[in-house]
Amino acid sequence: MEFSTLIAQRYSVRKFTTQPVDPSDLTAILEAARLAPTAVNKQPARILVLEQAESLAKLKSCTPYTFDAPLALIVCYDETAAWVRSFDEHNSGAIDAAIVGCHIMLKVHDMGLGSTWVGHFDPVKLSAEFGLPKSIIPVAIFPIGHPAEDARPAPPHSKRNPLSASVFYEHF
Ligand SMILES: Cc1cc2nc3c(=O)[nH]c(=O)nc-3n(C[C@H](O)[C@H](O)[C@H](O)COP(=O)(O)O)c2cc1C
Repeated sequence: MEFSTLIAQRYSVRKFTTQPVDPSDLTAILEAARLAPTAVNKQPARILVLEQAESLAKLKSCTPYTFDAPLALIVCYDETAAWVRSFDEHNSGAIDAAIVGCHIMLKVHDMGLGSTWVGHFDPVKLSAEFGLPKSIIPVAIFPIGHPAEDARPAPPHSKRNPLSASVFYEHF
């Protein structure tokens, strides 16, 4: 899909069919994640793939936003692997993981699948449920599947502030 069309059409899909995601589609999504740029090319993202019914049921105890999707990716980063800025010790892992998340979101849409970035989850419960080591920090959950026939963008999708609300110039 042409890039401008892709970013204009993509929306948070919150209703899915029960059709599983094809393994080759999952591979393509993970490959898009792999190509994401990261600070100092440290590649600290770690992605947990949940496909089994039991795992997806466990996920439901960590967030109300699973939308019964047949697949979920939990994008995390390893805080011991990420670049740390020497000036202020800022750890770049969350930024790197967010860029990976954007690649996932856009690739999913490009393939005719749907997803929503889910940030509302209990990180302590999630880490415990899936046995994440202490250094693996979950950033976002992506429920992924085939959009239901009646899936539609929620109202916020069409509400974007004008550029003047976010862009400013040095000569203001
Ligand atoms: C960091 C982040 C966290 C989000 N968390 C959630 C969430 O927990 N549950 C949810 O339904 N949507 C969540 N969203 C989706 C936003 O609500 C959505 O992107 C926004 O309303 C714009 O709609 P659109 O994606 O359809 O364009 C999140 C999006 C981002 C970027």
